[in-house]
This record gives sequence, structure tokens and C-alpha cells, in this order.
Amino acid sequence: MHAIRELEDRFSLNVYPKRPLVIVKGEGARVWDDQGRVYIDCVSGNGVANIGHANPAVIEAITRQAQELITCPGIFYNPVRARLLEKLVEIAPDTISRTFLCNSGAESIEAAIKFARYTTGKTEILCATRGFHGRTLGALSATHHPKHKKGFGPLVPGFRHVPFNRFDELVAHTTKETAAVLLEIVQGEGGVHVGHPEYFQQVQELCRQRDILLIIDEVQTGFCRTGKMFACEHFDLQPDILCVAKAIAGGLPMGAVLCSERIQLPVGAHGSTFGGNPLVCAAAHAAIDFMVTHKLDQQAAEKGQYLVDRLHQQDFPIVREIRHLGLMIGIELRTRVKPYILKLLDAGVLALPAGRTVLRLLPPLTISYPELDIVVEALVKVLKGNEGNLNPNNTRKHESRE
Ligand SMILES: Cc1ncc(COP(=O)(O)O)c(C=O)c1O
Repeated sequence: MHAIRELEDRFSLNVYPKRPLVIVKGEGARVWDDQGRVYIDCVSGNGVANIGHANPAVIEAITRQAQELITCPGIFYNPVRARLLEKLVEIAPDTISRTFLCNSGAESIEAAIKFARYTTGKTEILCATRGFHGRTLGALSATHHPKHKKGFGPLVPGFRHVPFNRFDELVAHTTKETAAVLLEIVQGEGGVHVGHPEYFQQVQELCRQRDILLIIDEVQTGFCRTGKMFACEHFDLQPDILCVAKAIAGGLPMGAVLCSERIQLPVGAHGSTFGGNPLVCAAAHAAIDFMVTHKLDQQAAEKGQYLVDRLHQQDFPIVREIRHLGLMIGIELRTRVKPYILKLLDAGVLALPAGRTVLRLLPPLTISYPELDIVVEALVKVLKGNEGNLNPNNTRKHESRE
């Protein structure tokens, strides 16, 4: 047995379905294992590495900041944090005027739930079937699938799940106690399902009419992944709260709750020890500047379309449907996806599942076209059952494509 894998298996709580791979290095859209094999990374740390692994701008920013100041709680002012807060409001939808900084996606959802209840004085949150919002108790209560919740009850009361993209159902479940509607724009964990434009418009209108807050969870879709800085821009949405995390700080842990003027809390009502620490704020500055300078939104839109067009040229009997928005891609199979994830790994491409049958690709948005071609080639061979023809993990082959 491999020594590193044995150590993790023995001393970790073993909550992750592990792949047989020890990753030791990353650069751009590639990662290397401890045997020196290279892989095209369409996992990106679960949708974190939008600007690529080991992005020099982030390395430089955190190296410089680490020498100045790493920690500084929110009870003091700090220039790096102050400018990041300003930057987030600049890039966010027009309604957003203030931000609470935290450390993860689930934490941003927890805060959003608290802020919505406090602001409205109401308790119920309407969520969508297939929705995923994280693993802490509040976020888990907002998450739909029972498999995530089994054995963890009692959960937080006040959450109802109504079918995604079905406005009539949502209206039917709205009550005087409805504080907020909480939705993803593209349901990521739930299978890469994109919301319908008219559905979002109707939901936004309903929220305005009935004094309900609109909370959009862009933990996975945010920061250029779908072809816009935030996916809600595709649908002209002006949320009251926008939850973000994952790609915000170039790979370092950060979450943020972007709020409209409607959200007001008294001093002392919420907080976080690590939230908004200068080290992570410096990384977020560098990451966001990189996204803007390199037009990663446009790149994601073009590369996503390229990849999907190339896949549509193929005849895949086992593929039921290909769904995408930008470089957030779901390939729904007519069969279980897990064996194909492992075959792709053998072929030198890392991919994610989204539910039982969907193969999800979330490559860094900096991925090159030759690297996308390698991904297509691997998918074609694996999904058509010809993976024996591939030359797995051939480093020279990858390099010769550049
Ligand atoms: C849409 C969405 N919301 C929330 C979360 C939870 O984020 P985290 O794992 O950082 O707590 C995720 C994680 O995958 C997510 O995809």
C-alpha cells in the first residue's frame, strides 16, 4: 500500500470518497502526482482554481502580505481588507453595497440565513429540490438531497424545498412567514442544471412584491466560471444577498456574503475570527484583478462553448444530455458515472461527479485550447469505451501539444 495514502486513510476521519491519487504539485490547468505523472485538472479543487494552480499573481501577493501582517480581526481596520470590500462592491450586481467576509461557502450560507431572518423578522426559507448549499447545519437544512442529511437530525426548522424551475410551485409554498428564497443559478452538485430565464425573472418579481429577500448562492458559479463575473448577470438578477466562496481568493479559503442596503444588523450580531484576514484578502485582490485583466469571463464563455461544440460533434450512445453555462459542464450519462471518472483518471484527466449519473467538468478558466483538446480526446475514448487506445499519463504527449 502507498505510504501517503495509508497515512491519510489511517489518521483522517475518512469522510471523502478517495481517488487513488496523491497530488503534489499544480500549475495552470495541470497537476502532478507523486510519481511525476501529469493530469489535466477538470476538478480545480472542486471549482476553486479558476485562475489556475500556482498563479504567480497570487503567490506574489501572499508572499508580500505574509511579511507584513497575516491576521487582523474585524474589530480593527486594515487597508487590504478595506480595499477588497470596495472591490467586491464594484464588481457585484448594482444592488450590492456591503459585504461580510468569512471563510467558506457553507459559512456564507449560514450568515445569509441569519441575515435574512434578522432583517425580515420572518423565519421560512424557500429552497429548491436538487439544491446544494453546504454541510453545516443551517446550510445542510437548505440542501435538498436526503443522502447529505441522514443521521444528522434534527436539522434547523423553517426550510421548504420546491421543484427548481417551477414558479407555480414556488408561489404555492410562499406564506406570510417566508423570509427569503435561496437558489443557485446553476445547480452544481445537483447535476449541472441551469435555471430558466423566465423562472428567475418571475421569482425576482415575486420577491419584490411580497417583501421576500432573494438570496443567490454563487459559491460554485461565481468569479467568471459561467462566462460572467457572477452567473446572476446572465439573467439580469439583482439579489438582496449574494453568497460566494471557492474561487474568490485564488485557492485560499474565503467566503463572502454580499448584501444590499436592505440587510442591516446591529454591531455584535455576527462575526468570524479568521474572516477577512489580510493574507486571504491580498490573495483575493490578486485573483480578482487577474480575472478582470485577463477577461476570464469571456474566456470561460468561449472555451465552454468550444468544449461542448466538440463533444456535440461526437455520437456517444451512453450520453443522455450535455448541459453547460460557460466552463461549468455536466455530461449526463445513461449509466452510473463513477467508473468513467476512474477511467478518465487513468487517461490523465481529473473530473468530478454531480450525483449518480452526471460527469462534471470544472477546469481552470485559464486552460489552453490544446489542453481542452486533450480533455475531449480522453472523453471520446473513455465514453466510447476505447480507453485502451489511450496512452495514459504520458507526460511527453501532453507537453508536445503546447
Ligand atoms: C452552490 C454551493 N453552495 C455552497 C457550497 C459549500 O461550500 P463549502 O464547501 O466551501 O462550505 C458548495 C460546495 O460545493 C456549493 O457548490
